[in-house]
Amino acid sequence: MTVSRRDAVLSTLALTASSMLAERTTAERTALAHAEHARFDDKLLNLDDYEQAARSKIPAVAWEYIEGGAADEITVRWNRDAYRAIRLLPRQLKDVGTLDTRVTLLGHDLAHPILLAPTASHRLAHPEGEIATARGARDASAGMVLSSYTTVPVESVAAIKPPLLWFQLYVQEKSYTRDLIQRAAAAGCTALCLTVDTPNSGARNRQDRSGFTFPPNLPHITSANVEYPIMWKDLEWIRAASSMPVLLKGILHPDDAELGIQAGAAGIMVSNHGGRNLDTTPATIDALPRVVDKVRGRVPVFVDGGIRRGTDVLKALANGASAVMIGRPYVHGLAVNGAAGVTAVVNILRHELELAMALTGKPTIKSLDRSVIFA
Ligand SMILES: Cc1cc2nc3c(=O)[nH]c(=O)nc-3n(C[C@H](O)[C@H](O)[C@H](O)COP(=O)(O)O)c2cc1C
Repeated sequence: MTVSRRDAVLSTLALTASSMLAERTTAERTALAHAEHARFDDKLLNLDDYEQAARSKIPAVAWEYIEGGAADEITVRWNRDAYRAIRLLPRQLKDVGTLDTRVTLLGHDLAHPILLAPTASHRLAHPEGEIATARGARDASAGMVLSSYTTVPVESVAAIKPPLLWFQLYVQEKSYTRDLIQRAAAAGCTALCLTVDTPNSGARNRQDRSGFTFPPNLPHITSANVEYPIMWKDLEWIRAASSMPVLLKGILHPDDAELGIQAGAAGIMVSNHGGRNLDTTPATIDALPRVVDKVRGRVPVFVDGGIRRGTDVLKALANGASAVMIGRPYVHGLAVNGAAGVTAVVNILRHELELAMALTGKPTIKSLDRSVIFA
């Protein structure tokens, strides 16, 4: 079926309500996919297309910062390759006429389980920075985690009202950090994602070779406050600084997940920082099952790193993740087309997830389990 651009725009308008829905019938999914593809560029069909398109939009030095990883970038590659190596084993003739991608995360009902991971300095990718990202998240019904290194004040981002807004915390000097936490809470953030994998960043050879430094005109929320490497005991005052639940971002070892739960963490984010910190750590999808087994459903487990396809999302959920986060892909969308680009990237991934759910015979997120993996 071919769809003219005008038809596509009209059907997009008609389908706006449908795109906000968590449940979609086969007919709605098909019409929405046609509309999306025609509305955005016909050539930008998947996340790799957005990556290619973004390359020419982002200044070369910033590109090296965004794309780069640590040292030999082995973990960057493993994050993606590990998903590719997992084979799916579908079940046929199930009732997949209506698919339901809804999830509930720490009391928030979301239309789907794809969140935006915290990434620094969105104004490197687009002049509207995190404002455009938040609009894109809102229009794609996606939750957003705002980086401590946002280039737009948290209050302005919160005013856009994405369906969920959490604040990522890099701990610095104590009183400064307390103020920052309280500011995020007052702005309307409903959880803190404490990044625990970055006592320092990794050996960023690629970024350093390019000569990248943060442009001085980017108004980072952070100040000249000294770094403050955190330890388990610091969770107490960080949790006490606000009533927001605290999730730990950057867990790979199951024992650290356990320690985190004992220390009151409300969620565990399995992450290797997109391969940007310690090179040769395992791919996050390989680390995930052990963490999930340790956590035993006591708190939600999230995963990020290398997710580029709806089948990747499905594999993460099948392995016990409650939701996934994407980093670089939405920055690409932001660079290509601002807020609409962010929305498009999430919509593509969500649509691919729906396709994969139907094709594996799994009509709801809850129905996804390890039986869908060919072991
Ligand atoms: C350009 C860039 C900046 C990032 N900045 C932060 C940050 O400020 N805080 C943080 O916790 N993680 C940060 N991350 C890591 C992401 O939150 C996430 O873990 C990672 O991007 C996931 O991998 P993916 O890019 O393959 O999706 C950053 C990642 C990138 C690519």
